[in-house]
Amino acid sequence: MFFRAPAFARQFSRQLSTRSAAVFQAASPSKLRWLAATVCVGGALAGAAALQVGPSNAIMADAPKAAPTKTAAGVKGGIERTFIAVKPDGTQRGLVGDIISRFERKGYKLVAIKAIVPSAKLAEEHYEDLKSRPFFKGLVDYMTGGKAPVIAMVWEGKDVIRQGRRLIGATNPLEAAPGTIRGDYCIMVGRNIIHGSDSFESATKEISLWFGKSEVYDWEFANAEWVTADN
Ligand code: RTP
Ligand code: MG
Repeated sequence: MFFRAPAFARQFSRQLSTRSAAVFQAASPSKLRWLAATVCVGGALAGAAALQVGPSNAIMADAPKAAPTKTAAGVKGGIERTFIAVKPDGTQRGLVGDIISRFERKGYKLVAIKAIVPSAKLAEEHYEDLKSRPFFKGLVDYMTGGKAPVIAMVWEGKDVIRQGRRLIGATNPLEAAPGTIRGDYCIMVGRNIIHGSDSFESATKEISLWFGKSEVYDWEFANAEWVTADN
């Protein structure tokens, strides 16, 4: 070591993490000047180190960026797709049109739709994460009963997975805010009329499960500049 800090400074460095306030109270003006000088020299050294890092950062910036991963749910954080399904109770109660309308009015794009009575295998796979729950069999029976089809859809747009869940509202309709789909139209968790993917990963799984690639359409809004543009 080419210089030795004064004793009070060595004590300062030991105490900084736990008793810094007491050390500052005990410091005289001359000690504080020494500390200020030390901080300045330290800052300059840190600055020089940062400059040395600069060129390699510049090289990193020029390196080719990996293309964002695209799945059946689009690009996470970019233009996403989500799986939305009107459950048989929603279909029976004539709520399909209103539900579609809410997504359309928000500015989302319908890229796939079909009426389907799912097989038990499909419903079980769809709700796989709930298979240990006591209501699982009732849930699968409700989805597959066949007294009305499920209206399965894929909606596309910015943040559509998260916003879709917001439009739908809480799982328990009694907790769902008025103005949301569940908040407006139902009262029972077991008859909550609509499903929406809860994450990018779920959307990826569910879209692939319910739709073949040829059933999902890429198309452009004719009025895109009024819906999807920014300034
Ligand atoms: P979903 O998957 O249908 O969009 O519903 P969610 O994410 O809001 O709720 P989740 O926990 O995934 O539950 C899936 C569906 O299971 C039925 N359920 N019944 N009887 C019960 O206690 C109960 N709990 C959940 C609901 O139909 C729920 O939407
Ligand atoms: Mg769910």
